[in-house]
Amino acid sequence: MKILVLGGTGWVSSHVARIALETGHAVTCLTRSGGVPNGARSVRADRDTENAYDAVAGEQWDAVIDVAGEPGHVRRATAALKESAKRYIFVSTISVYASHAKAGLDETAERLPALEADTMQSMAEYGEAKVAAEDAVLAAFGADRSVIARPGLIGGPGDATGRTTYWPWRFAHPVDRTHIVVPDALDLTCAVIDARDLAAWLVHCASAEVSGTFNLLGEQLTFGEHLAVAREVAVAEGGAGVDEPRILPMPAEFLQEQGVNPWAGEKSLPLWIPGSENVAMSARSVAAARAAGLKLRPLADTLRDGMWWRGNNGGDAGLAAADEREIIAAWRARAGN
Ligand SMILES: NC(=O)c1ccc[n+]([C@@H]2O[C@H](COP(=O)([O-])OP(=O)(O)OC[C@H]3O[C@@H](n4cnc5c(N)ncnc54)[C@H](OP(=O)(O)O)[C@@H]3O)[C@@H](O)[C@H]2O)c1
Repeated sequence: MKILVLGGTGWVSSHVARIALETGHAVTCLTRSGGVPNGARSVRADRDTENAYDAVAGEQWDAVIDVAGEPGHVRRATAALKESAKRYIFVSTISVYASHAKAGLDETAERLPALEADTMQSMAEYGEAKVAAEDAVLAAFGADRSVIARPGLIGGPGDATGRTTYWPWRFAHPVDRTHIVVPDALDLTCAVIDARDLAAWLVHCASAEVSGTFNLLGEQLTFGEHLAVAREVAVAEGGAGVDEPRILPMPAEFLQEQGVNPWAGEKSLPLWIPGSENVAMSARSVAAARAAGLKLRPLADTLRDGMWWRGNNGGDAGLAAADEREIIAAWRARAGN
């Protein structure tokens, strides 16, 4: 098949291009920088400009795979390619949903309103922007010639945010040799989809001519189960220095006093999303994607590869060693701990 990837130099989109090449497709990548995988044809263009698709709109495409975040990018691409491309596969997000308070819902759940503007003012408009982009895809290609892929948290090697690489890495580098600071929230749900599994499924959608709207989440585990896998991976890979890292669960109030943030960023405990309003961030139905061929590798593989990747590349999310040491000392200084 002849596949046009709108992207190919970043994280998910470079996996898409690589996997499409490995599975025998002819791949063209449209990007600004042009550092596309070996074997792909590169077209340089800036999607902020009106004529960005001039070099590709005159060709016939079996599928376009797009990871854009800005509505304007998708509006212009779909308008330019709707005659020449058979199928448009768009990477959206579960952030399009209006509420995350109820677990287990399918793709018919209510969405946010669409962003009217072509560009986001800030990431606070991310969900609305993706709704607008989904609408542009559906208006140009219709539901029977498009895929709206809505991933939850994406992870594994290449996760520059560090959210999904922190835990195995921290278990492999315990600050006081034995204890790891974790939130006392082990029953929360947690789901990470490997970027490579997502990419493989997007390519499969092109080959198998899949259409429809799909949630794409990794295996839905408890946070405690996720941490247990991270620990097993670190112990298995860590050698003699790491044999008995144990979790030290601390209540949210104590962590807040220590200036620790949930979810992401510096001085955070990644993947911890407290609050009943957030349960569906990692708990949605993926039955449709499973039926349409989604295959998930074991979480241990994602965490092992992510741990080594972080060792070489770093990542912002998590506690720095000095913070971890201070928090453990403050915790032990409290009576009874
Ligand atoms: N991270 C998560 O947990 C998560 C969760 C749900 C959904 N998602 C979605 O998953 C998708 C994949 O994310 P990603 O970060 O991995 O994307 P990515 O593969 O890094 O893709 C970005 C690509 O777009 C190209 N690009 C950006 N601006 C451009 C422009 N003006 N003109 C031409 N090309 C441009 C970049 O190339 P150049 O810079 O070389 O131009 C790059 O190849 C995103 O849509 C994201 O919203 C992510």
